[in-house]
Amino acid sequence: MSTAVAPSHSLAFAPRIQELLDRDEKVFRIDPDKVGVSDSRLLAEIVAARPVHSTERSVYKPAAGADIPHDSATRTIRALGQDAMAGIRKPPPPARGMSGTWPYAGTSHLRRWLFSDDALPVALLSKRGVSRSDSLSLLVDRAVTRWPGRPGRAGSTELAGLIRDAEDPLERRQAAAMYRRATATLCDGVAGLTGNALWLMGPQRRQEWHRGDLTAILWETLRLLPPAWMLYRKGGEAYAGLHPEIRPGDDIALFPLLMHRHADYWSQPLEFRPERWDGVADPEKAPAFMPFGFDGARCWAKHLVVPLAERLLTTALENGILVRSPRPEAEVPLRSLLSVRFEARLAV
Ligand code: HEM
Repeated sequence: MSTAVAPSHSLAFAPRIQELLDRDEKVFRIDPDKVGVSDSRLLAEIVAARPVHSTERSVYKPAAGADIPHDSATRTIRALGQDAMAGIRKPPPPARGMSGTWPYAGTSHLRRWLFSDDALPVALLSKRGVSRSDSLSLLVDRAVTRWPGRPGRAGSTELAGLIRDAEDPLERRQAAAMYRRATATLCDGVAGLTGNALWLMGPQRRQEWHRGDLTAILWETLRLLPPAWMLYRKGGEAYAGLHPEIRPGDDIALFPLLMHRHADYWSQPLEFRPERWDGVADPEKAPAFMPFGFDGARCWAKHLVVPLAERLLTTALENGILVRSPRPEAEVPLRSLLSVRFEARLAV
């Protein structure tokens, strides 16, 4: 039940993902109401057929019982960009935080790096232990609504500023939800991508890495193990007629993971070959490649993800990260973000 990527670092995908990887068809029925798609042209047509509904969004799905207004969504992404760029200009926290189980060790390290300057209770919004519990999240939300922080506090993030400067209670509760979701999506996604790259590099590449190689390594990782491996569209009339298999009302699961590994689109598709990106000016224009979505629903944070992952990867490699799986094949569990699970410790 495993797909070999290279002899020294193979992977055991969760059975449900492996079943998908074993399929030859690019359009297939998953269950009576759901169709899976990995055909490049059809995928683009589906994304273009209608805008994403607010409830299909992840970061910008409704919060505090109301849709997120467009201007507050754009303010959030601008603030996140400023915080991420300011964060990576700061020296990283002690590297020992990268030891442990990845991708979680990477997520905690990034959170400390980028968001630890915010005061309590806002800082609790980005704590993994809190966001995994609904009751703790509710308590923290209430505390943040009452004590959103003082203006002019040195070092606090722009995202925290949006909570503090909100003009009414609804805007404040939504800004707190945006803080939690944006920091979680960024840190989980970047740590997942970095961990996937560390795994795919294998022991030799991890020893002999050069700074200039890392961008191509990350693009090749986004091809072979894209964190956003499945995109979802709820049923509706918009897709019926795009393909005979799709009936009115069917939900659609789009699989960049399968498309990125299909021999019709890629040479030696299962091999990790960062050199395939040499001389490619804009990887996102590569056919059958959509790690950040297609036009119509493209990721608003894509410009942040690769530079941050490159910084985290550099720090891990500079500190001689040693990677091992408790088993011969590392596991890729069934999660909304695709990431290899492994143990790491530092050599220096
Ligand atoms: C490694 C991290 C990330 C990856 C791999 C990623 C990937 C993607 C992908 C594949 C899409 C297309 C979704 C679809 O068509 O259904 C998308 C859309 C989007 N992403 Fe990201 N994303 C990441 C992080 C983030 C972060 C941190 C934010 C913002 C805080 C964000 C905001 C968005 C938005 C606003 C959209 C457009 C969909 C919509 O209209 O809601 N993403 N992303």
